This record gives sequence, C-alpha cells and structure tokens, in this order.
Amino acid sequence: MTVTYYGHSCFSIEVNGMKLLLDPFITPNPLAKGKVDAGAVEADFILVTHGHEDHVADLIPIAKRTKAKVISNFEIVSWLEDQGIENVHPLNHGGKARFNFGNLKYVSAIHSSVLPDGAYGGNPGGFIIDTPEKCVYYAGDTALTLDMQLIPKSYNIDCAFLPIGDNFTMGADDAVVAAEFVNCKSVIGMHYDTFPYIEIDGEEAKAKFKKAGANLALMEIGETIEI
Ligand code: NI
Ligand code: MN
Repeated sequence: MTVTYYGHSCFSIEVNGMKLLLDPFITPNPLAKGKVDAGAVEADFILVTHGHEDHVADLIPIAKRTKAKVISNFEIVSWLEDQGIENVHPLNHGGKARFNFGNLKYVSAIHSSVLPDGAYGGNPGGFIIDTPEKCVYYAGDTALTLDMQLIPKSYNIDCAFLPIGDNFTMGADDAVVAAEFVNCKSVIGMHYDTFPYIEIDGEEAKAKFKKAGANLALMEIGETIEI
C-alpha cells in the first residue's frame, strides 16, 4: 500500500492497483500550490469524511472528471446526487460495505459537518479501510473520543491518519492518546499548518509521539511513501 500526500487532510492511497482519494482539498490550499495539480489527480474511489470546505473543495470536479465512486455519509451522497454525480455509495456510522479494494467502515468522529453551500452535511465520520494489504484508520476531523477504543476490538490497525493541528480537532497530545486507543504505533499526521489557527511545531509533535513509543510521520506535500 502506498500513500501520497496532497496537503491538509488529502491523501491518495493506492492499494492493489486502485486509487483511493481522501477528503479532496487541493486548489484553495496555499501550501499545495505548484506541488499538486488537482486537474491531474487520479481516483477510482473518493472517500469524504464530512462536508467542510477544507475536505470537499475539489470533490465535484475530480468526481466528474475521474468518474470515481464517491463514498460518504448519506447526506453528502444525496447532495452529490442532486448535482448530477451518480456513482456514489452512502454509508452511516457503524456500517460497513465491501468494495473492490476491501472493506470500508464509517466510524464516529466528534466534529461538525455542513457543506460549502450551507446544505446539511450529516454527521462527520472517519473510515476504517480494511484491505488485504493493510488496514488503516483515517480519522477525519475529530476530537479524541472513547469510541476509538472500539476500533482495535475488530481491527488490527497498521497505520492511523490522525489530525494533529489542534484548535478545530485534536492536537498532538490528544492524538498520542488516540494512537494508544486504536493500538497503533504508526501515525501519519494531518490537518495542520494549512491555516494560521492550526500551525504547529512539527518537531515538538514528533517528539511527543516518540516519547510514547510511537512514530509520527509528517509527509511532504507531493511525497509518496510505502506503508
Ligand atoms: Ni472540518
Ligand atoms: Mn477540517
């Protein structure tokens, strides 16, 4: 499984020849300018955790161009259908479904969710992406929550994508606890540095994970790693 970072909380995960795009937000991200071309991003599936602009800004153009299947909560999927995007799959919390790449479960997140035009964006979530290669937890935007303790009862998480920017989501201190809750020592940080409210000291965040016996990876925008 390879992971490519497009900035903020946007990643591409390639598994078994299929490309999963997560929370597409590229064009308005000043940090991604000149590093990622939203018009060239490939996707077979697009996973969307909630309706906020910084997770869906490039969703509709990429969905239309790639014809990727968009998987999100029922309300966001319905909003997409109203705009002519028909290759969709709705999930709601606790539900899972099988796709070509593996099983996908929509899990709890403590956050909010409204779409850029003011439409109701349902309740925010995260995803467990359980594939024959690796099983990863993509938390979306969330506070630390005890619900995370349920995840390792059913899954062996190889890698957790956790927000670390604080202010709107968990910060690094809570993310260290979240990694313990999901029983995973390999963490990829997201949702930091994009805006002044969420600027962090990356080295300090890495040190906090190291002290807890875990590893925090902070990827360069455009970088691809094998997990
Ligand atoms: Ni959000
Ligand atoms: Mn966000």
